[in-house]
Order: sequence, then structure tokens, then C-alpha cells
Amino acid sequence: MTTDAEIQTTLPALASGNVAVITGGASGIGLAAARRLASLGMKIVLADIGGARLDEATGAVAAIGGDDTVLAVPTDVSKADEVDRLAEKAFGAFGAVSLLMNNAGVGNNPGKPWENRGAWKRLLDINYWGVVHGVEAFAPRMLAAGNPGLIINTGSKQGITTPPGNLAYNVSKSAVKTFTEGLAHALRNELGAHLSAHLLIPGFTYTGLTEGATQKPAGAWTGEQVIDFMLASLMHGDFYILCPDNEATRPMDEKRMAWAIGDIIENRPALSRWHPDHANAFAAFMKR
Ligand SMILES: NC(=O)c1ccc[n+]([C@@H]2O[C@H](COP(=O)([O-])OP(=O)(O)OC[C@H]3O[C@@H](n4cnc5c(N)ncnc54)[C@H](O)[C@@H]3O)[C@@H](O)[C@H]2O)c1
Repeated sequence: MTTDAEIQTTLPALASGNVAVITGGASGIGLAAARRLASLGMKIVLADIGGARLDEATGAVAAIGGDDTVLAVPTDVSKADEVDRLAEKAFGAFGAVSLLMNNAGVGNNPGKPWENRGAWKRLLDINYWGVVHGVEAFAPRMLAAGNPGLIINTGSKQGITTPPGNLAYNVSKSAVKTFTEGLAHALRNELGAHLSAHLLIPGFTYTGLTEGATQKPAGAWTGEQVIDFMLASLMHGDFYILCPDNEATRPMDEKRMAWAIGDIIENRPALSRWHPDHANAFAAFMKR
């Protein structure tokens, strides 16, 4: 069992009194992160669309560290000016930020590739551009401060294996993956920087996003499990924080990802995993 002291010795960005900004912090994985980081003594800036849920989340985080350790900033991450304002408020209130978690996301399905351009753009504005807005607003000042820092962007396995179902979501999360990989590369080439980027890849997690369920499905992890796994992975220095869940193990995820990239290498049709001519070969591959 890892102690808080071990976490904070390995990850100085998470020192008590340091500041974490979490978008989508009013629910699910973001709220679980806020509570855990507050329990480490960090100050928390919760950014989410305003309303009762953000108020409740703020109360829950304040109950851990005290009223003066949490700042709620109603923010629509799809709007660059609102994310800039979030940064002004965070730096204005606390002076420095050492962890940015670009985590806000939506999963509503706009439909087929040729339908609902407006809804497609809205989803990409939140899930992808929201991440970019966060990096633009915070990274320059985090770099200038020169302190140890972390930027964690929440992606998805759906951005890697791109299963049929919600193409716009897959596109947004593929973009977050590629952007975060490039961000990590750019940061490690900044002379003297102590700021690193990481891609959080949750598995099936019981949150507001897992629609329909009134209680946690057996296959799902909780947000708290995801955040414990994230902290352990950060301690190992991992860039890809690939979470399992109660159904998908790491070896299963590895095979699914290998099959997906194998479509190109083996010259199979796109998404061959779901193609009737390749279903048996995929099943055999998974059993191997
Ligand atoms: N739950 C899962 O199984 C799962 C799996 C993989 C990835 N994810 C990703 O994890 C992240 C967190 O999702 P979650 O599962 O905790 O869902 P959630 O719905 O519980 O939390 C998402 C939060 O984002 C906020 N949000 C939505 N639009 C916003 C906007 N425009 N500006 C600011 N905040 C906004 C919501 O109000 C909500 O509080 C998302 O990026 C999601 O895509 C979730």
C-alpha cells in the first residue's frame, strides 16, 4: 500500500499546498481526482459548467481541506475565453498551478459521419478543443514558473481502438491522444522544464457518463479506482495511464490495440475486428 508521503516524495508537483485545476471536476473521474488530491493537502480549482452539481462538488471537496482550499469556477471548456478566465482566477487566487487535469468530456452521440455537423462540432469543441484551450491557458505560465508540474489529459480506449458506436467521440479522443503525445514531446524538449504531460485512458468507469445505470455495473471501475491507478502510474513515470476495469485486463487491451494497428500492417479492412469476414480471426487472436 503506497502512502501519501511516498506519492508526494515521488511526485513533488502533488505537494501539500500546491494547486490542482481540474476541468469536469464536478462529477465522476474529475471529482474523484479532486477529492483524492484534496486529501493530499492540495488546493483545488474545480472547473465545470455551473449549477447545483458544481456547488455540491465544491462542498464535498471543501469538507476535506476547508473552504479556503477550493475554488469553483463555472467554465465551459469549449470557449477559449472562459478557459483563459479560469486561468486568471486560478493564478489570481493561488499564485501558481502545478497540476492541470483537462478532463471535461461528453459522450452524446451525434450520429453518422454525414449527419448533424453542429452536434459533431459541439462534441469536438468540448472533448478536443477544451483540452487545447486548457493547455494554451496554463502551460506557458506553468513553464515560466519552472516548478515541477503535470498536465493530465483524459483520453479513452475509444480513441485508440475506435469501436463502432460513437464515431464523433472516437474522433475527439483520437485527437486528444495525438495532441497529448505531441505535447509530451514538446515539453520534454523545453530546456529546463519540469512539466510533463500524461494521457489518462480510463476503462469502463461508473460515472455520470455511463448513462442508464442506476448502480455500478459489475464490469465497471469507480472513479476512485481510476485515480488510485493514475497516481500509481504517475509514480512510475508512465505517459500512457492505461486503466483496466473489472472486465478488460491489460493483456486484453494490449491485444485489442495490436489488432487495431494490425489492420494497417496486415492490410485488412478498416475496423476489421467488427467485420464479419474477420470476426473468427479476431476471436482466435484474442484466445492466443
Ligand atoms: N466513464 C467512463 O467509462 C470513461 C471512459 C473513458 C474516458 N472517459 C472520459 O473521462 C472524462 C470524465 O468523464 P466521466 O466519466 O467522469 O463523466 P462525468 O459526466 O461524470 O463527468 C464529466 C464532467 O464534465 C463536465 N462537462 C461537460 N461539458 C463541459 C464543458 N463544456 N465545460 C466544462 N465541463 C463540462 C460535466 O458537467 C461533468 O461534470 C471524460 O473526458 C470522458 O470522456 C470516461
